[in-house]
Amino acid sequence: MAVIGIFDSGSGGLSVYRELVKVLPQERYVYYSDAANCPYGEKSALFIRRRARFITEFLLDKGAGVIVVACNTATAAAITTLRQEYPDVPFVGMEPAVKPAALGTKTGVIGVLATAGTLKASKYLNTRGLYDADVRVVEHVGQGFVELVEKGILDGPEAEETVRASLQPLLDAGADVIVLGCTHYPFLRPVIERIAGPGVQVIDPAPAVARQTQRLLEKHGVSIGLGPFSVELHSSGDPAALKRIYELC
Ligand code: DGL
Repeated sequence: MAVIGIFDSGSGGLSVYRELVKVLPQERYVYYSDAANCPYGEKSALFIRRRARFITEFLLDKGAGVIVVACNTATAAAITTLRQEYPDVPFVGMEPAVKPAALGTKTGVIGVLATAGTLKASKYLNTRGLYDADVRVVEHVGQGFVELVEKGILDGPEAEETVRASLQPLLDAGADVIVLGCTHYPFLRPVIERIAGPGVQVIDPAPAVARQTQRLLEKHGVSIGLGPFSVELHSSGDPAALKRIYELC
């Protein structure tokens, strides 16, 4: 049985967890929400790397055989360092899904919603550089999205107003594909899709990340599918926020 460690700045990584349990339903999951330090979006890379190390140690103590960095911001800031410092541990990271968006657009404009930390990271800029000769990439920070999800406000007037403020500029630029480049954002997907309308495709990379995790476990010879399923939720902050989103998964 594999022990799958997952972490995020908060509850957002549960959007990856819910895809993981679909492809790997018989494993033991340990989830760590760094809610006391959420959001990561505006924090320094140095700070996020320190937290990522601490959480990695915690998850390894819990027996994790693979660690899913279910946070685009933490992946951008810390995954290279984590892979260097823990060469025996398989890490799976998150990155805005620019490639499928570039392949799917008809207008030639793709919109990326992510945190400030992700959008300025060299990891993202390198990926974007592979496609921005062929398609126009427009970006916006999902301002206030993380806070909404942590408060459990996933729909209604406040969610709609907040989402519209960041999404509308991308739609106005002609984007017909919107990439959700932060793991919190899929919890606002119904609002995002309603505002974007039926002609706009919304991409959440979590299902692809779940399949990648399965491949990595197989490659490392970790036994999977033996059960029983279990999940442990840990939070450095208010556990109620995490529980609220977990119950939706
Ligand atoms: N869920 C995170 C991400 O994927 C981080 C959001 C934040 O803490 O700012 O980027």
